[in-house]
Amino acid sequence: MPQSHTVQANGASIPAIGYGTFTLSGEACAEAVGWALAAGYRHVDTARMYGNEAEVGQALKTSGLKRDEVFVTTKVWWTDLAPGDLERSAEGSLKRLGLDQVDLLLIHWPNPAVPVADSTAALCRMKRQGLARHIGVSNYPSALLDEAVRHATEPLVVNQVEYHPYLDQSTVKRACEKHGMAMTAYSPLGRAAAFEDPTLKALAQAHGRTVSQIILRWHVQQPGVIAIPRSTTRDHIIQNLDVFGFELSDEEMRRISGLARPNGRILEPDFAPRWDKTS
Ligand SMILES: NC(=O)c1ccc[n+]([C@@H]2O[C@H](COP(=O)([O-])OP(=O)(O)OC[C@H]3O[C@@H](n4cnc5c(N)ncnc54)[C@H](OP(=O)(O)O)[C@@H]3O)[C@@H](O)[C@H]2O)c1
Repeated sequence: MPQSHTVQANGASIPAIGYGTFTLSGEACAEAVGWALAAGYRHVDTARMYGNEAEVGQALKTSGLKRDEVFVTTKVWWTDLAPGDLERSAEGSLKRLGLDQVDLLLIHWPNPAVPVADSTAALCRMKRQGLARHIGVSNYPSALLDEAVRHATEPLVVNQVEYHPYLDQSTVKRACEKHGMAMTAYSPLGRAAAFEDPTLKALAQAHGRTVSQIILRWHVQQPGVIAIPRSTTRDHIIQNLDVFGFELSDEEMRRISGLARPNGRILEPDFAPRWDKTS
């Protein structure tokens, strides 16, 4: 069974490949998470907003794995960041997941109407009160991340952001490194946007791997980077974890990073913050 290496971040040890569950729901979600756990995934990413925490919890239970064998992340939606709301959201997530504690609780998106000092303090309380083993943020540009770290009384371990070969995230990555944090790549496959890319196809052929595996290898070969691909196809789920048995050369890594383009971003909701400049 393939084994993911772990990324160390401010005291957290996080499997470098996690299973993403956005858009999965109902029985199909429980079944797919079950496939992922059976394939060897030991890190699952959900969110209150995904509406599937109960099914993720059900799959964890059915798997028979011990609680401390799987790293479980959930998130608080950006409209729930005011003091009181954040606590209620976290408590609701634990109830639906059927867990006493998540391994990582993230603020899903920043909310400009809630002072960073307040949302960060509420998040830190969740760690102190034991609802979350670790805490972090998502979709924080570098300046906002600096601000959150300034206010945090507990270590932030992760900033989860969109990252794939078509989107440069070097500024956010440097900010994470500066703070000892990991950067988790969401939409790590660019939602399949780059699967026909000639450079990636050529690398896939050269290594006898799929384009998805080349992209995921590129992610996990970067120090401090974690990737959480989503798939509802059992073969893809299995294949996406099997990226620890080969290596890309420095030149190949650079070629993939060089595919970044100014319009490469996929997620741009109207509540998105002002992003860092990308190449
Ligand atoms: N924090 C945030 O704001 C945020 C935002 C977006 C996403 N996320 C997290 O990141 C996770 C992943 O991102 P995502 O769901 O946006 O997209 P993604 O993982 O980049 O791409 C998913 C797509 O890739 C396809 N795929 C996966 N593996 C494949 C393979 N081996 N071969 C061919 N196709 C493959 C899937 O189709 P098949 O099902 O057919 O395999 C699906 O269409 C989410 O599920 C969620 O947990 C977080």
